[in-house]
Amino acid sequence: MSQETERIGQLRDELNRHNHAYYVNNAPTVSDREYDLLMKELEALEAAHPEMDDPLSPTRRVGSDLTKGFTQVTHRRPMLSLGNTYSVGEVDEWLTRCNDMLGNSGGIASVPIVGELKFDGTSISLTYRNGRLVRAVTRGDGEKGDDVTENVKTIRSIPLVLATGDWPEEFEIRGEIVLPWKAFDRLNEERAFNEEPLFANPRNAAAGTLKTLNPAVVAGRGLDAYFYYILANSMPADNHYDNMLRARSWGFKVSEAMMLLDSEEDVNSFIDRWDKERRTLPVATDGLVFKVNSLHSQLNLGYTSKSPRWAIAYKFPAERALTKLRFVSFEVGRTGVVTPVANLEPVLLSGTIVKRASLHNEDIVRSLDIHDNDMLYVEKGGEIIPKITGVDTDAREAGSGPVKFVTHCPDCGTELVRVAGEAAWMCPNKYGCRPQIIGRLEHFVGRHMMDIDGVGEENCVQLFDAGLVRTIADFYNLRPGQLERLSGMGPRTAQRIVDGVEASKNVPFERVLFALSIPYVGETVSRRVARQVKSLDRLREMSREQLVAIDDVGPRIADSIIEYFSSEHNCEIIDRLRQAGVRMEIEEAPQTGTSDILAGKTIVISGVFALHSREEYKAMIELNGGKNAGSISKKTSFVLAGENMGPSKLEKARSLGVPLVNEDEFLSMLG
Ligand code: IVH
Repeated sequence: MSQETERIGQLRDELNRHNHAYYVNNAPTVSDREYDLLMKELEALEAAHPEMDDPLSPTRRVGSDLTKGFTQVTHRRPMLSLGNTYSVGEVDEWLTRCNDMLGNSGGIASVPIVGELKFDGTSISLTYRNGRLVRAVTRGDGEKGDDVTENVKTIRSIPLVLATGDWPEEFEIRGEIVLPWKAFDRLNEERAFNEEPLFANPRNAAAGTLKTLNPAVVAGRGLDAYFYYILANSMPADNHYDNMLRARSWGFKVSEAMMLLDSEEDVNSFIDRWDKERRTLPVATDGLVFKVNSLHSQLNLGYTSKSPRWAIAYKFPAERALTKLRFVSFEVGRTGVVTPVANLEPVLLSGTIVKRASLHNEDIVRSLDIHDNDMLYVEKGGEIIPKITGVDTDAREAGSGPVKFVTHCPDCGTELVRVAGEAAWMCPNKYGCRPQIIGRLEHFVGRHMMDIDGVGEENCVQLFDAGLVRTIADFYNLRPGQLERLSGMGPRTAQRIVDGVEASKNVPFERVLFALSIPYVGETVSRRVARQVKSLDRLREMSREQLVAIDDVGPRIADSIIEYFSSEHNCEIIDRLRQAGVRMEIEEAPQTGTSDILAGKTIVISGVFALHSREEYKAMIELNGGKNAGSISKKTSFVLAGENMGPSKLEKARSLGVPLVNEDEFLSMLG
């Protein structure tokens, strides 16, 4: 073996060890930079030695190939579900049953139990042969699942090659693939940003991600995996607990929460403990799992048609509460829409006290048929935002009528108008209604808009009430001296705000457009309009026909833009912003060079991109001699495929044999 090929082996082992330390133990052993250097060295050596190719090399975690759909695989042994219980009493009954069936007369304490967390993700079965991952299959219908090996390989906490150990020559290990809360929130933020539908919970997000056809997308999502079950012809130990400890020593992530429980008291206090502590975990759990520890006893207890008798799930109590409606308040937002809000008798739900919940609009209040003083069911959607899901009509007070809707603005008293074709009521007093003005100020300074450092929601109210900021243009006249006179504001905060305002003059035009609060002109529309129209002056002069010709702009948005510019008040604000130095036109994106690299190629762009906008890609195609087409046909040379490409397009590309090229590949094509 040459020195170089030997080095490849060393680097692979070393990187596998660092991966394990970082992703399984949460205790990194090298700096990111050192890790990157080792990875680069390995990539270079592998490129020079194709004969050393190994699909399980740490360099292959990025998942750059598109899978061509999934093959169905029959599980060697079916993947069963678990019997559910919902109370401590039911768990105790299960314990007694196990003892009785095993013929233990010595009382409940005699069957050792393992307590585990029930991870709320999507189950997976991995097969290893000679210490190497050979296949990853989803649960599917329990009998057959999908082969998702390429996607699973991108999950960094899953070992691809096991370090030397006492693992069986061939074994199956089952566990749960989860999307940690942090990654889930990040993913949904990104989807909200792109105006894509949000995932309801981390379970759906994990399952959806695992079935994505592009492993590169999977790699970027931050999935993790916990393991809880091994199957092998010859098991390392005669009990579940020790087997799982072995699995941990081979490199698998086995939860630290797993615990041996010797008595009914132990089981009950395990439940008590995790009922509270589960909220501090980085991943979603929906209960606990109890398993008889001895494999011999497991064999004796056996299975029902659906689930093992030797294990049971305890589900955490439903996160729902019943509480009294005190009154409905009506709140006016930035755009003048009036939202009904249920003000409740405080109630504890998933560890927080809930006092208020949005009722969204009149139609929802009517469809729930909420009456004054009703007892309402509150649930936590996605564990965060409380939601009213129903009424306990049996508890309704005699004579209480349906909740009345206000007819006038609760803040400025103006008569409300109903927006045509919508469930919303609006206060039309745009420039004189306090919450609308403050809402626009808050929107203007927000992170996705002008991102003015030092100004948050509270300061906006303070600045407005002090008469310093009445319109968004007033931010640009603020002086430190004025700010320092406000209560609780020191010279440092004052200077920070003034600096923040100054820095906002560099915010690109597309965000300025969004920051103006033109009704219906959200983040995506602003970006689209800014890139196509290029300046606010041009936008101001456009006719309705010209406006609706812009991608993503329909009649409603066009009318709203025209109405916005027809107001003298708004035109004045814009002039002042311009004088202050706020960007009113697009800075041309740096152009990639022109060439004829794509001459004769017809390219379809599909999906969502991370590095450039679609318009930029369109421009690049044209600048490099290619032709951009809207739909896939036999003539398509390739599809420039982003994330979340639609399934029908994907199918069409596959059936016509049109290759898919991702962003990175495309950019490197252009050099
Ligand atoms: S044991 C034969 N342990 O819950 C035993 N399952 O409702 C099979 N799950 O399909 C499962 N955490 O996806 C087991 N610690 C844990 C678990 C767990 C989550 C999931 C698993 C299973 C489902 C059954």
